[in-house]
Amino acid sequence: MFGSLLLACLFLHLVVSVPQPACRRCCDHLPAPDEAATLSESMPAMPEVRTYINMTILKVGRRKSLHSIDNYQALIFDTIFVNSPEHFDMFAGKYRCQIPGIYFFNVNIHTWNFKETYLHIMQNDSEKAIVYAQPSDRSIMQSQSVMLPLQEGDEVWVRLYKRERENAIYSDDVDIYITFNGYLIKAETE
Ligand SMILES: *[C@@H]1O[C@H](CO)[C@@H](O)[C@H](O)[C@H]1NC(C)=O
Ligand SMILES: *[C@@H]1O[C@H](CO)[C@@H](O)[C@H](O)[C@H]1NC(C)=O
Repeated sequence: MFGSLLLACLFLHLVVSVPQPACRRCCDHLPAPDEAATLSESMPAMPEVRTYINMTILKVGRRKSLHSIDNYQALIFDTIFVNSPEHFDMFAGKYRCQIPGIYFFNVNIHTWNFKETYLHIMQNDSEKAIVYAQPSDRSIMQSQSVMLPLQEGDEVWVRLYKRERENAIYSDDVDIYITFNGYLIKAETE
């Protein structure tokens, strides 16, 4: 009894509250201009979707392991996944900003057992974020990410820092363990 009452209420509610628009088939005539205006007024505004097509993207990797020789040295990559447009200098291991704006960068490395791993994501000559792992019998993947506001000419790169201990990162010919990624999130607008 109660159930059917509830159902009846629901049904009534549906009938009463849902405004039934006039049936319109695809072959019907288009609404007259003023009719169309009232139609669009009554509909919620659709969010505008914009896509960045000419975004600058970088993704490079390294297949060879590396032991730091100098106290400071740039991490050089040997594999390009994406470098569009070519703002990443493969020889210097540096991303050179040509479109001022906010960028996202990320580095992934594999540590080397019993060796230290010590590196920074650099903007020109200042350290922005660190990846550090103490020597351990278990080698692991490590990563670091950072968002940076860049001006034209700024360079972003990965610097290995060697102290008294051996500093090393691991990779091999089979898989790529070391990657460096970056992309423009928002271009600066004057
Ligand atoms: C995209 O390209 C247009 C036209 O070349 C340019 O004006 C604009 O600055 C570019 N935007 C980015 C984010 O590169
Ligand atoms: C970073 O270095 C580049 C190249 O030397 C230079 O053009 C730019 O102004 C420097 N940026 C900062 C923030 O010092």
